[in-house]
Amino acid sequence: MNPSSSSLLLTLITILFCSLHSLGFANRLIQQTCKNCSKTDPNISYKFCVASFQSNHRSQHAKNLEELGLIAVKITRHNVTDTNAHINDLLEKNKSLDPFVKECLDDCLEVYSDTISTFREAIRDYKAKRYTDCNVKLSSIIDASTTCEDGFKQKNNGAISPLTKRNKDTFQLSAIALSIVNMLINTDI
Ligand SMILES: *[C@@H]1O[C@H](CO)[C@@H](O)[C@H](O)[C@H]1NC(C)=O
Ligand SMILES: *[C@@H]1O[C@H](CO)[C@@H](O)[C@H](O)[C@H]1NC(C)=O
Ligand SMILES: *[C@@H]1O[C@H](CO)[C@@H](O)[C@H](O)[C@H]1NC(C)=O
Ligand SMILES: *[C@@H]1O[C@H](CO)[C@@H](O)[C@H](O)[C@H]1NC(C)=O
Repeated sequence: MNPSSSSLLLTLITILFCSLHSLGFANRLIQQTCKNCSKTDPNISYKFCVASFQSNHRSQHAKNLEELGLIAVKITRHNVTDTNAHINDLLEKNKSLDPFVKECLDDCLEVYSDTISTFREAIRDYKAKRYTDCNVKLSSIIDASTTCEDGFKQKNNGAISPLTKRNKDTFQLSAIALSIVNMLINTDI
C-alpha cells in the first residue's frame, strides 16, 4: 500500500469510528431520556419515545438533552403540519363526509392551524431558554390534540374519528417535548 492510500484508509477509519461513537452516544442519550420521560409521565410510552427519535436522523447527532428537546419540538411540529394537510385533504376529497364529522374536522383544522404560531413561539422560547414559557405553549399543543379528538365524542351518534392515531401521536410527541422542557426547568435552577 502506498503512503497516500494508507493515510486515506486511516482517515476513513477515523471518520467511521467517530461517527459510530457519536451514534452510540446519541442512542444512549435517547434511551436515557425516554426512560426518564416515561417514568415521570405515565402517558409516555418508552418504546414510542425511542422509535420517534430514531426515525429522525437529526437526533442521531444530538449531543445533549437540550439539543434532543429542540428536536422533539420539531418532530412534533412536523407531525402536526402533516396532520393539518391530511385534514385539508379529507375535507376536500371526501364528498360523502357525514355533516357532523365534517364539522368536527373543521374544528380540528382550526385548533391545529392555531398551533402553527404556537410552535413558532415555543421554539423561540426554547432557544432563549425561557423553559417555563415554552412549557405553557407545549401544554396548549397537547390540549389541541385532545380538543380535536373529544369533538368526535360530543354527540353520541357513533361517529368515528378519522384522526385518532394522529391525535394520539401528537399527544405523545408533545408530551415528550414537554417532559424534556420540564427536566430542563429543573436542572436550570
Ligand atoms: C435521567 O435521570 C437520571 C436519574 O434521575 C439522571 O442521572 C440522568 O442525568 C437523566 N438523564 C437525562 C438524559 O436526562
Ligand atoms: C396524562 O393524560 C391525562 C389525559 O389527558 C391527563 O389528564 C394527565 O394529566 C396526564 N398526565 C401527566 C403526568 O401529564
Ligand atoms: C408522526 O409521528 C408518528 C409517531 O412517531 C409517526 O409514526 C408518523 O410517521 C409521524 N408522521 C410524520 C408525517 O412525521
Ligand atoms: C368519507 O367519510 C365517511 C364518513 O364521513 C367514511 O365512512 C368514508 O370512508 C370516507 N371516504 C374516504 C374515501 O375517506
